[in-house]
Amino acid sequence: MRGVSRRRFVTASAATVAGVAAKTVAASDRRAGAPAAPPYPEAFRWGCATAAYQIEGAWNEDGKGPSVWDMFAHRPGTIWRGHTGDVACDHYHRYRDDVALMKQLGLRAYRFSVSWPRVLPEGAGATSPRGLEFYDRLIDALLGAGIEPWLTCFHWDLPLALYRRGGWLNRDVVQWFADYAGLLSARFSDRVTRWITQNEPQVFVGLGQLDGSFAPGDKLAFPEYLRAAHHQLLAHGRAVQALRAGAKRPLQVGYAPASDSYIPASDSAADLEATRLAMWRVERAFWHNAWWVDPVLLGRYPEEGLALYGTDMPSFPASDLDVMRQPLDFLGINVYNGRYVKAAAGAPGYEIVPEPAGAPLTANDWSLAPLALYWAPRLFHERYRVPIAITENGMSSRDWVALDGQVHDPLRIDLTARYLRELRRTIADGTPVLGYFHWSLLDNFEWASGYKDRFGLVHVDFTTQKRVLKDSAHWYREVIATNGAVVPA
Ligand code: GCO
Repeated sequence: MRGVSRRRFVTASAATVAGVAAKTVAASDRRAGAPAAPPYPEAFRWGCATAAYQIEGAWNEDGKGPSVWDMFAHRPGTIWRGHTGDVACDHYHRYRDDVALMKQLGLRAYRFSVSWPRVLPEGAGATSPRGLEFYDRLIDALLGAGIEPWLTCFHWDLPLALYRRGGWLNRDVVQWFADYAGLLSARFSDRVTRWITQNEPQVFVGLGQLDGSFAPGDKLAFPEYLRAAHHQLLAHGRAVQALRAGAKRPLQVGYAPASDSYIPASDSAADLEATRLAMWRVERAFWHNAWWVDPVLLGRYPEEGLALYGTDMPSFPASDLDVMRQPLDFLGINVYNGRYVKAAAGAPGYEIVPEPAGAPLTANDWSLAPLALYWAPRLFHERYRVPIAITENGMSSRDWVALDGQVHDPLRIDLTARYLRELRRTIADGTPVLGYFHWSLLDNFEWASGYKDRFGLVHVDFTTQKRVLKDSAHWYREVIATNGAVVPA
């Protein structure tokens, strides 16, 4: 059912509808040698993404301090089957081999995060020379392989020492984070141009401190959660300033929230408007977009949220909003799935269209929703007017090494192809997209699911650390080598 409607609707714009029709013709003509879909932009960054705690291991080596994730994963009952990131992909010791794999794939860019407590064991104060040297070596290896490093300053591993000093609840965290960002910039900006301050604030503030299912595992009262979120936003702004102040040359700086994505259920203007309502709503919960991005790019909290939260909001000087809003060069969005939306009877309002029984699901029960990669970039760009980067997209599957020694993951190829063609279409329709980072390069520690969920293009045996390129890795290499021409129209 949805497959049928997916072909039919897609956008309210007549030009796009015509474009879709043209593409349908092109697809059937292709056998006869007709031109393929429009190409991806020339400088398009085809990449992969990872995060420090999920791949590095070496959790207490070479002077690294513990993070809240080390604490949380060591607590019984938090992670599937008691897994931890203590060793993970052992990337800390195997980064050279992993960069060689990236080179084999032909990656043009690689998004990784720095572990804050690896370079500042106590979070503030004394640095760890060996921690910094690790990232020097990693960056040099990437550049040597012709791969552009995209550095995320924070992918959730807050130093435990800072958590013990109040963490995100303590306004001092703003200075701690800015100092950390300044340190990274002073050290690496001679070689790294692309920077991301924070990954998915929804998760490290919301899931970590309101819901409690991720580190540090707190269930704060709502006003405290809002205070932590306020500090996180402020820390982002101060970090942007610190990154630029410490830079040895002009930097491109962004931010990478999770996209809570919605898709219009038809091409009617009413359903598109309903989709905008869903995209930008604020609730007494944390899986939404505007609360985490409006302050950063528009310099204000959404009115709807302020009205809803009332006296739960912390009081703060108005100048905080000026600090949160710093000019950004791009907005990264992590897009995996999306929900279909239609106008509510008696609009304004929206309704989520339930998925049909039997609709496709990935191994961790996420829906297959390729149109999210059409609509999320388009709607984020429509609201915030900055270039977009797809900083994560991918899927979990239960892959293993087959008798022939290979890893066959046709569904990852199919899913990625479906998403990438929607991304190509949104670019053709005018949304500036700088690049696409597949999550992930390697199977890795998938947070509370441990090693159960495999998101990699490369299979990892966590006992032997042997890496095997999955079929999808071979396919992605072709995608990159052809600048996307092998992605079906
Ligand atoms: C996130 C993170 C990644 C995840 C990936 C798959 O979105 O949760 O940025 O660290 O591993 O998204 O869940």
